[in-house]
Amino acid sequence: MTDLASTTNPGRVDLSPLPARNPELVGRTAVITGAGRGMGALFLEELALRGVDVVGGDLDGTAMSDLADKINANHSGTEGAGRVIGVAADVTDPAAHDLMAETALREFGRLDMWVNNAGVFPQADFTDITPEQLAATYGVNVNGVAYGGQTAARHFRSVGGGAIVNMASVAAVRARVTRATYNSSKAAVKHLTTCMAVELGPDNIRVNSIAPGFIDTEMTRWVQEDPAALDKALSTVPLRRLGAPVEVFAALYFLLSDSARYITGANIPVDGGSQHV
Ligand SMILES: NC(=O)c1ccc[n+]([C@@H]2O[C@H](COP(=O)([O-])OP(=O)(O)OC[C@H]3O[C@@H](n4cnc5c(N)ncnc54)[C@H](O)[C@@H]3O)[C@@H](O)[C@H]2O)c1
Repeated sequence: MTDLASTTNPGRVDLSPLPARNPELVGRTAVITGAGRGMGALFLEELALRGVDVVGGDLDGTAMSDLADKINANHSGTEGAGRVIGVAADVTDPAAHDLMAETALREFGRLDMWVNNAGVFPQADFTDITPEQLAATYGVNVNGVAYGGQTAARHFRSVGGGAIVNMASVAAVRARVTRATYNSSKAAVKHLTTCMAVELGPDNIRVNSIAPGFIDTEMTRWVQEDPAALDKALSTVPLRRLGAPVEVFAALYFLLSDSARYITGANIPVDGGSQHV
């Protein structure tokens, strides 16, 4: 039987809001990369709603600044809401990270948290992978995380600490046909996170990653629009549904907060259990 929810919400994503609030984060400032849409856009709004000022950067500068305007307008009357600034920022360019940090310091006077979220998801048979696909994917998914981490760490070192969260993926621990480029790039993000945590820990800089499974964004539209692909995908998810971006935000918010102050080098799966299948 097909009900309305399963028609409009094919993977039956749980859309209910999450209540967590960590008051110590109010008045702090974050940078989020790849925040023009998808999970980054949701993170931007959820942090602002919880009193965090945020600089969002995206390759698509127009989408980014339109979104920032929309969030600020939506929450202009919300007591305690943070402010959002959107800038054009290509994570493959180290200077773009410096620009985001400078924007946060100029506009908000501080920078406490950094989220390396931007990512791309190419698919190709292994023998068809081109040098361009490899360079472009590693450029965004791996180099982009390293450059963002460097900018954040240089600043955090000068102010006595900070929190960095990198977006890895369940793909980091899985092998799947046509996904060698993406999956290996996310394995690199997971290990880069551990290396950063070990090296930056003595400066009170915590570095953790999140490993989402199938989350309801444009990146997984190809799965959601193909019933056979959706069935196959959900058969590898013990909870038998897609995740909602807000469910990934719950892990991000925890890792950024002081509740996680003794946690570094961790990789939190938010995948309905799929890394085990
Ligand atoms: N959606 C999922 O199921 C899923 C699962 C595991 C991991 N992830 C990871 O989570 C992160 C967010 O994914 P999403 O689903 O929101 O993706 P999305 O495709 O909806 O959004 C990605 C954003 O990154 C931006 N971007 C791409 N290249 C960029 C660049 N060079 N510089 C700056 N911005 C750039 C895009 O413009 C876009 O706004 C990615 O790192 C992705 O790999 C997603």
